[in-house]
Amino acid sequence: MNAKIVVLAGDGIGPEVTDEARKILNVVAQKFGHTFTFDDQLMGGRAIDERGTSLPDETVAACKSADAVLLGAVGGPKWDKPDAEDRPERGLLGIRKALNLFANLRPVKLNQHLISASTIKEEVLAGVDMLVIRELTGGAYFGPRKEAGADGDEAFDTMLYTTPEIERVVRLAADAAMGRKKKLTSVDKANVLASSRLWRRVTVKVLADYPELEVEHVLVDAMAMHLIRRPAAYDVIVAENLFGDILTDEASMLAGSMGMLPSASLGDVMNQHNLPLGLYEPIHGSAPDIAGQGIANPLATILSVALLLRHSLGLEKEAAAIEAAVDSVLNEGVRTRDIASTGVEVVGTQIMGDLVAEKLLN
Ligand code: IPM
Ligand code: MG
Repeated sequence: MNAKIVVLAGDGIGPEVTDEARKILNVVAQKFGHTFTFDDQLMGGRAIDERGTSLPDETVAACKSADAVLLGAVGGPKWDKPDAEDRPERGLLGIRKALNLFANLRPVKLNQHLISASTIKEEVLAGVDMLVIRELTGGAYFGPRKEAGADGDEAFDTMLYTTPEIERVVRLAADAAMGRKKKLTSVDKANVLASSRLWRRVTVKVLADYPELEVEHVLVDAMAMHLIRRPAAYDVIVAENLFGDILTDEASMLAGSMGMLPSASLGDVMNQHNLPLGLYEPIHGSAPDIAGQGIANPLATILSVALLLRHSLGLEKEAAAIEAAVDSVLNEGVRTRDIASTGVEVVGTQIMGDLVAEKLLN
């Protein structure tokens, strides 16, 4: 297969982790006989510095004509001025919107070998295997807002949702649940928020088409608690944008580290293979504190590559091979610093990438 992959390395540790992901894609191409071409584009802080905007037009155009987009991370203290006109994060939100990526899939699976890397008790973690689906192009991230300027004393954001926006993401989540354990948990704050009451009403209506699903509606505050109290009880969780953002950082601790969680953002734009043109990124940020030191964990980005192959290229065998290779490296006791515990071998970003590549080739 031929595929064009746009790489948005971004800021901080972004370039380091996407380099390792690219290494893995090259190994997959070699081993399974594919041709992947990479197109590096600017987005985020570096794009502000070099092009004067966090999301240059040519980046959007390149992404639109690609089969998939691989993203590292954006942001850093350099661009964190309160009165800044543009921000790295604006580029990220902009590309999500431009590609209509309304569903963000964040699978949370505990790797057995990492049980001791989590701060949560082993018996609570046993059996954790969930898929969080976060709505990605609506809610407070994109609703009308007012910034308080230098002398302003009022600011607001609006958590705005329309019925079709809720319908499409809930349907996607319901379909995903049908292919798993047939359990769907919808998260809202319907006891307080109007947008959540719409969310719940639409969800109930959509799910009437899925009589086989076991459905639960949970308030977001309670969900935050249940996630660490009985995480193994959940299968597919669907939530609006901001709730999903917060809950998945929390859920990442179930997998041992933020450095382990991949994500896939999908919408209704199709690529030349008639599969969704998706954006794949680790859920972690740009970690400016450790950028350039070669110690970041590349596994979330490498696992994002597995999702890319699966969802945007239909290469299930190749995706599974990457996941198995990661598992096997962890099984041998090799770790990056963020998931280290006693008795393991701690390696840097590149060595971790090399080891996964080696496993893939053998
Ligand atoms: C994420 C991140 C982003 C978000 C930030 C960097 C804008 O936290 O992908 O979860 O809030 O969506
Ligand atoms: Mg987040």
